[in-house]
Amino acid sequence: MAEKKRKVGILTGGGDCPGLNPAIRGAVIQASALGFECLGLQEGWKGMITGEAVPLTPGGVAGIINQGGTILGTSRTNPYKKENGVAAVLETFKRLGLDALIAMGGEDTLGVAAKLYRDHKCPVVGVPKTMDNDLSATDFTFGFDSAVTLAMEAAERLVDTGRSHRRIMVLEVMGRHAGWVSLYTAISAGADYVCLPERKVDLEDMVARLRAAYARKKVALVVTSEAVDLGDSGQEELDEFGHMILRKRGVAEKLSEIIEKQTGIETRNAVIGHMQRGGAPTLFDRMLGTRVGVKAAQFAAAGVFGQMVALRGDEVVPVSLEKATGALKIVPAEWLALADLLCTGAAVQAASAAGAR
Ligand code: F6P
Repeated sequence: MAEKKRKVGILTGGGDCPGLNPAIRGAVIQASALGFECLGLQEGWKGMITGEAVPLTPGGVAGIINQGGTILGTSRTNPYKKENGVAAVLETFKRLGLDALIAMGGEDTLGVAAKLYRDHKCPVVGVPKTMDNDLSATDFTFGFDSAVTLAMEAAERLVDTGRSHRRIMVLEVMGRHAGWVSLYTAISAGADYVCLPERKVDLEDMVARLRAAYARKKVALVVTSEAVDLGDSGQEELDEFGHMILRKRGVAEKLSEIIEKQTGIETRNAVIGHMQRGGAPTLFDRMLGTRVGVKAAQFAAAGVFGQMVALRGDEVVPVSLEKATGALKIVPAEWLALADLLCTGAAVQAASAAGAR
């Protein structure tokens, strides 16, 4: 009699990002090669509550490495916030006969996986993904490189039009409460000022720098994170995981009003929002997604559960899910110093002093 195949479920939760499809593809190809049958749960943890799943085969995922988004759909569903949500997830494990579940997500999705492992010993393996790059246990998450590449191009386009019209341009990027997207965008596009969520925006400093930059170039660029503190936080709307819904804060609009008023220079702003989450994954994200997807399937086959696959240097290694979801990776002091050198004070001052000589 033929032996019953082991089954692995795969889900993608939280905000989508480029790299998810390469990761799904990598996991399916490797799991199938190791003799697993693969099932794709629909729309994140929601699929584990409803039990909605589709078969995944190497043939079925053959052409998705260059596709943005996730073929499995996603949601910000938190089973711990739904009545009988966790019981339904446990029931789905049984009913579908899952020997393992690969959960691809950020802090929230992996936080649920960590709790299911801790409380119920569910056979879960985590794959980190987020354009925010804010997971502390891994050097990089896929999605970040694609998002920042797009944001860098957007910034350069803004400078082109800003230069023609002699304007100051403000670009708002995503990234939540970690400033990695804003910092990488600002440095790579040669911005004149960067506003990060890790510290309160010093409006006086910003205006002074922009005036100096504008005096030299007749254009200036500010890159701001969506989550910066402008000293005006009020009652914020929260999602199911308790996160502020940041797109409603209108940071770029507010900043450009302040800048225009205080400098007297015409200022425009742009919010690229979800454009950072779409499109074909970059080379880096295709490779990283593929590698972590493959490794997650290997862990599932070897029974290495309660772990997340993490990039450390050039290695993909296991890190406990509990540890991986314990603290966010925000921009640390040495990176803030780099931001100050390149996108706030020192560089602009030095350049204007040189110009005056
Ligand atoms: O976590 C990824 C992210 O893109 C954040 O940078 C952003 O604040 C949030 O998701 C937006 O979420 P939504 O797609 O639910 O509007």
